[in-house]
Amino acid sequence: MAYKPFKGQGGSRMQNPHDQAAIIAAPDPEYRFTSQDGEESEVDSALGDDAFSDSSSHNSVTPSILEYRTIQGRTFHSERHSSFYLFPNDEQQLRSVDITHHYLRMLIGDKLFLAPISDNVQRVLDVGTGSGIWAIVFAEEYPQAEVTGTDLSPMQPLWVPANVKFEMDDCTQPWIWPEHHFDFVHIRFLFGAIADWDELLQQAYRVTKPGGWVQSCEADVEIRSDDGTVTPDSSYEQFWNSLYRNAGQRLGVSFQPIQDDVQKKAIEGAGFVNVHIRDFKFPIGGWPADENLAEIGKYAQLTLLNDAEGYTIFLWNTVMGENAPGYQEALFRMRQDLRNKRIHGYMRCRYVYAQKPETPSASTSTWS
Ligand SMILES: C[S@@+](CC[C@H](N)C(=O)[O-])C[C@H]1O[C@@H](n2cnc3c(N)ncnc32)[C@H](O)[C@@H]1O
Repeated sequence: MAYKPFKGQGGSRMQNPHDQAAIIAAPDPEYRFTSQDGEESEVDSALGDDAFSDSSSHNSVTPSILEYRTIQGRTFHSERHSSFYLFPNDEQQLRSVDITHHYLRMLIGDKLFLAPISDNVQRVLDVGTGSGIWAIVFAEEYPQAEVTGTDLSPMQPLWVPANVKFEMDDCTQPWIWPEHHFDFVHIRFLFGAIADWDELLQQAYRVTKPGGWVQSCEADVEIRSDDGTVTPDSSYEQFWNSLYRNAGQRLGVSFQPIQDDVQKKAIEGAGFVNVHIRDFKFPIGGWPADENLAEIGKYAQLTLLNDAEGYTIFLWNTVMGENAPGYQEALFRMRQDLRNKRIHGYMRCRYVYAQKPETPSASTSTWS
């Protein structure tokens, strides 16, 4: 696979996009996890904190896009642009994005996606690409495909396969691509970023080729348990779940896309057919008895231990007030819960994939 330096984008931070884990069967959504209770230690160690080393460098794009907003030392996409995003765009957050890619792949059986696209797929769009890890790995595995990753922030690596490119684009604004352009539109983990999922999927419908596929993967961020170990007084409930519930109401975005059924409604509403839904649970922590699930859980735990701050700081300021006291203590308690093997927390995620009809009726997009 030929790699090329990608000009005009962010850092060269990702060292090894090939680094994928062993195959793990995707758990049944009804599956009830079995824990490793009875072990001597309650303390759950995450995978090595030194597992990620990186260096970063930045190239210049248009100067204004690099004018980031800073909150207590963390950088965010600037509120001066059309959209603002709630999580930072810095190295620390991007490490969590890359680890998330890794465990999501493990969760669905070492696959990059579930939609039955053709092996000879040509044009692929990854909306809200983040670190670009999905787009890069896809481009490597499908060298004949042209892969485009879009994001608000220019934070993708410099060295990428020759068949992937990144574009700065706000997916809540009118899309620039012609009708019937992409064979596959991939959308993953945009929870909290999208106020109107119907509009997003209408745009995806317009640019998908007849017979082409769309896939949406989202998580409900609430941490639950099946055995009552996430108690009402745990920090998961008092801090994390409560913060996200309140922030969702205040900001008018869904952090519970499964509970609110946003994906299926928007995909069907846009006109896609042949709709498939797959639900998964992923543990937070290495507490499951099943080795593979425990490994997935350790990666999920690591994303939160690595950057609990990045996932909450903007929401805390929004819900509790700028620099409201108690934040550091809440983070400390959250980290304690994350390391406590007796708390059997998990989150849910949903994959929905669907096809544009071979003979589509006129586009329903309000943007075209
Ligand atoms: C949690 S990350 C997920 C990244 C990637 N999809 C993945 O699964 O690895 C969400 C990404 O969506 C981007 N994003 C948020 N709002 C956006 C918008 N309106 N247009 C384009 N990208 C957006 C953020 O900048 C961030 O990189």
